[in-house]
Amino acid sequence: MRVTATAPGRVNLIGDHTDYTGGLVLPMAIDLRTVVTVERTGDVVHLTSSHETEPAVVALGVEEPADVRPAWARYVAGVVAMLQPATGAVGTVSGDLPVGAGLSSSAALEVAVALALGFDGTPVELARLCQAAEQRASGVPCGIMDQLAIASGVAGHALLIDCGTETVSSVPLPPEAAVSVVDTGPRALASSAYAERRAQCEAAEEVIGPLRDADEATVTAIADPLLRRRARHVVTENARVRAAAEALRVGDLATAGAAMVASHASLRDDFDVSTPALDEVVERVRTLPGVHGARLTGGGFGGSVVILAERGAAVPGRRVMAAGAATVSTSP
Ligand code: GLA
Repeated sequence: MRVTATAPGRVNLIGDHTDYTGGLVLPMAIDLRTVVTVERTGDVVHLTSSHETEPAVVALGVEEPADVRPAWARYVAGVVAMLQPATGAVGTVSGDLPVGAGLSSSAALEVAVALALGFDGTPVELARLCQAAEQRASGVPCGIMDQLAIASGVAGHALLIDCGTETVSSVPLPPEAAVSVVDTGPRALASSAYAERRAQCEAAEEVIGPLRDADEATVTAIADPLLRRRARHVVTENARVRAAAEALRVGDLATAGAAMVASHASLRDDFDVSTPALDEVVERVRTLPGVHGARLTGGGFGGSVVILAERGAAVPGRRVMAAGAATVSTSP
């Protein structure tokens, strides 16, 4: 029996560094995919990848995914450690989702591997398992956005996700909207700085309680200026996600785009996760004819800019379409 699992990448339209405080995000699954094809057999998971020179060879009893080599095999190992399948697999990883461009190639790999190895459950359960796999593989205390967007994508729709309740509602993208991504290069310092930002949010919550329930007035009660800025980003970002989702629902691209531009400024000035290259692309594209908004997308420190424009507008980068969720099929 041959099992083929396909998982899309994701781009986040708005709502970054909110998921791990139970906040709101508005990503979409995209039409660039990772494909894992296997035969279920043996007692190791052996995968070769069209993106990598060395194979991933992971024992079913793997206990420390972060120690596995080569580096890409850690994500496979993370899934194996969480899923604990009874049978191994031999197969391949392929697909057109670029690795390292900030489009969640690691989360797509995790979701595709989990499905190929026989994961059976709801999209939220799949996302939770793969989030834990990512954390064990990379040591980064990531939130659930990437894996949940990939597990629950809806073609033609963005996904308004409440990361506190783990509920997903699909928001139709207006037919005149075009979403593009511009890769600004590899991410630097991303993992240590990510953990530091998350810890700062937790420190702010020690003072004012859950950020998901806070408003801008509450944030002023935080004495430490750095923690106050971090908290202000999260609180205002949640409000912008709500506003952008509402604007998209009524076809108001200008309002959604303005929220994206404000999001970039907040990620740059209050959350300190932008780079000169990301700022430069955002500044350059946001005033182009037909562009409604642009911002860094994902964790920051490099990676991609997402652009919301009118269909047909001349924008740099690669156009992406909102795609459906990860799937799995078997054939003899
Ligand atoms: C990375 C993480 C996500 C999320 C974003 C920032 O992509 O994996 O969980 O925290 O950064 O929004």
